[in-house]
Amino acid sequence: MARNLLDRIFGEASAVAIDIGSTSIKLMECRSDGDRVVVSRMGMGPTPPGALLNGAVVDALIVGEVIRDLLRSTGSNARLALSAVTDPSLVATRIQVPRRDDASLDKAMPFEARSHVPFGAEEGQLTWQVLNPRDTSPQMEVLLVAARNEAIDGRLQALEAAGLTPVVMDAVQFALLRSQVYASPDPRLFERTVLLLHIGTAFTEMAVVWRGCFAFPRIVPIAGAGMDQALAAAFSVDVEEARRIKETRAAAAGLEELHLLPEEQQQAAQAISPVLDEIVRDTQTSLNFLASSFQMAGGEAGADEVIVSGGVSRLPRLAEYLQARLHTPVRIFDVFRDTRLEAPDYDPSFLADMSPYLSVVAGLALRESMAGGAYPMVGVPESQPLPVTPA
Ligand SMILES: Nc1ncnc2c1ncn2[C@@H]1O[C@H](COP(=O)(O)OP(=O)(O)OP(=O)(O)O)[C@@H](O)[C@H]1O
Ligand SMILES: [Mg+2]
Repeated sequence: MARNLLDRIFGEASAVAIDIGSTSIKLMECRSDGDRVVVSRMGMGPTPPGALLNGAVVDALIVGEVIRDLLRSTGSNARLALSAVTDPSLVATRIQVPRRDDASLDKAMPFEARSHVPFGAEEGQLTWQVLNPRDTSPQMEVLLVAARNEAIDGRLQALEAAGLTPVVMDAVQFALLRSQVYASPDPRLFERTVLLLHIGTAFTEMAVVWRGCFAFPRIVPIAGAGMDQALAAAFSVDVEEARRIKETRAAAAGLEELHLLPEEQQQAAQAISPVLDEIVRDTQTSLNFLASSFQMAGGEAGADEVIVSGGVSRLPRLAEYLQARLHTPVRIFDVFRDTRLEAPDYDPSFLADMSPYLSVVAGLALRESMAGGAYPMVGVPESQPLPVTPA
């Protein structure tokens, strides 16, 4: 609704996807070309130190400047923006409510939400989407989403400071779902249970997807920055230098695997291994929860696959490391190999370098082209009920 209206106001409106991260800000615009979705603009700029704190934008003006530079350098004249929120308190949960019409659902949801949302109504924003609107069963399956203002507001202000009008604030998890599952050319993904594991700087974000349906999220505050701290301590250097070491001389290996690495990678690998193990433990917790809740419902066990993205997915040997510990097949996601997104105007080696960073921004940009911009706020397609509603 809102978008159609805005389209009319602005005439030839096009929306640009902006992913504001702790280390870098990513921009993407796509266009549909028959069955193909083609990247028309793409760029990435460094986030100034201190502009984000624990995933929240604390200096909107400076982030706005980076976004403005990106718009300029990519030649974008978009005035509308789609972005995604990273919030460790994010609620994205499927609930069942008695079937009712839209107006009475709008009245009921703030009350229904109270038992699911750990913060007060004035501290955050709430939205929802009916997942089975065509169903006539007495219960409705509703995806309830809530995020705190402190995670949302700074992002909105940064986009506005860049001269953009935010029209969609998605959750990172739904952007990942779109790029990694819905945009996949492989229909088998819709028969499988997958865990999307996105390892950035401040956060590791997970989304469990059961046969194409969003099941539950998990967000943990341990990712690339934790590795930088471990490396800074091990090498007695500052975090900037530690990050350079991580990006150029580290790999994923436990003690028993260190001998497999070239000597210059061994010390860094040893330093970051406890951080990786924490990520493994949190991922395992999600996998265990999935297995136990689905087994209780008499369904299938566990995940068929873990799909990894985010800047840390560039770490050498990461897939092997995770696979050996999670006992589940692990694959590193590549936006330009594993989706229907095409980028014929870009150099393949540039695409290979950029791909690990782009899964969120691509999921936002795809939202436009996949549904002609018609998705409601949450942006998850209609789906069937899960075998259980995860608590
Ligand atoms: N080769 C590499 N090995 C390990 N980590 C890497 C490598 N290259 C980049 N990274 C790390 O990836 C992280 C950046 O990834 P990404 O862009 O996904 O995060 P972000 O979106 O900026 O952060 P967040 O979403 O957590 O706020 C940085 O910590 C960076 O050092
Ligand atoms: Mg990020």
